[in-house]
Amino acid sequence: MKVLVTGGTGYIGSHTVVELQEKGYDVYIIDDLSNSTIEIVDAIEEITGVRPHFSQFDLCDKAKLAEFFKQNPDIKACIHFAAKKAVGESVEKPLLYYHNNLVSFVNLLECMGDNNVNSFVFSSSCTVYGEPEYLPVDENAAIKPAVSPYGNTKQICEEILEDTIKSTDLQGIALRYFNPIGAHESAKIGELPIGVPNNLVPFVTQTAIGKREKLRVFGDDYDTKDGSCIRDYIHVVDLAKAHIVAIERLLEGKNVTPYEVFNIGTGKGFSVLEVVRTFEKVTGEKLNYEIVGRREGDVEKVWADTSYANEVLGWSAKMDLEQMLKSAWAWELALSKKEGIKA
Ligand code: UFG
Repeated sequence: MKVLVTGGTGYIGSHTVVELQEKGYDVYIIDDLSNSTIEIVDAIEEITGVRPHFSQFDLCDKAKLAEFFKQNPDIKACIHFAAKKAVGESVEKPLLYYHNNLVSFVNLLECMGDNNVNSFVFSSSCTVYGEPEYLPVDENAAIKPAVSPYGNTKQICEEILEDTIKSTDLQGIALRYFNPIGAHESAKIGELPIGVPNNLVPFVTQTAIGKREKLRVFGDDYDTKDGSCIRDYIHVVDLAKAHIVAIERLLEGKNVTPYEVFNIGTGKGFSVLEVVRTFEKVTGEKLNYEIVGRREGDVEKVWADTSYANEVLGWSAKMDLEQMLKSAWAWELALSKKEGIKA
């Protein structure tokens, strides 16, 4: 079974390719390498013993995408990760985000339609809930106006997908991710932020290893147990596995409606300071950090109601925060030793 994975050399994409290949799928990656490196393809081969097919181009180039589908007529399904994802950058360069994330999305759905590829999994985000009215937040919660162009592209893509599904043979699942962290147990793939990381855990591991001087904890005056923000952190391998379950659900025709949406998290919320303390505990490293003011646009607290995914998809997250942080640290240590992949 041939499956297309766009953004397959990225953080979540690469872990999903590994899981797909371990289940015997024949994986075709399209990635423009704008936020990843070709060495990830080697790493996937080292882990699984199989080299995924790889094509380097931008999905905004529709002629190339159409040619790709012409050359690979047996592709049966697509998992779509390729997108720009830096919240702050999207505020500075909204048109870059709208152009990249939306044009590529429309091109992909059009080419899939032209080639009768009717199974599609989309990487969405809990960002669509904004500051939720109730917790844990379930899939029926209100979609809030997005605080960033990045978040808006996730909402718009969900809408485009739902509308397209209504009028075509396409069947789709949107997975709303909470906060993916951690790395593959082999420490051969993981998160590879270019420049200064925006996200908490890469910043934590880079600080512990000495690449950054100090972690800044954004705010300790929120209405939470210790004043810092709460998130639902999920191990990236658990998240990757949810994609396999979702694509199989579509390929086997087990989906109840043509368009389905699932929260993908652990259902547990941890504060920033709990993450810091757990990291120190499992690694034995002392983390240099200071409390600073709030970061604009941050949600105070969010964690998932995962019962729908647990019951209907038959998927649940298996790994706890300690395992997530241990694996993130093992990856940082491996990265620091590795040549060829630049952190
Ligand atoms: N944080 C710090 N210091 C840092 C980085 C983060 O204290 O240096 C805090 C943040 O304030 C937040 C928490 O750590 O409270 C998590 O922050 P991340 O940036 O790791 O994650 P976010 O929840 O802000 O963002 C994630 C994804 C986005 C997505 C968003 C909402 O990275 O892509 O969830 O779904 F838009």
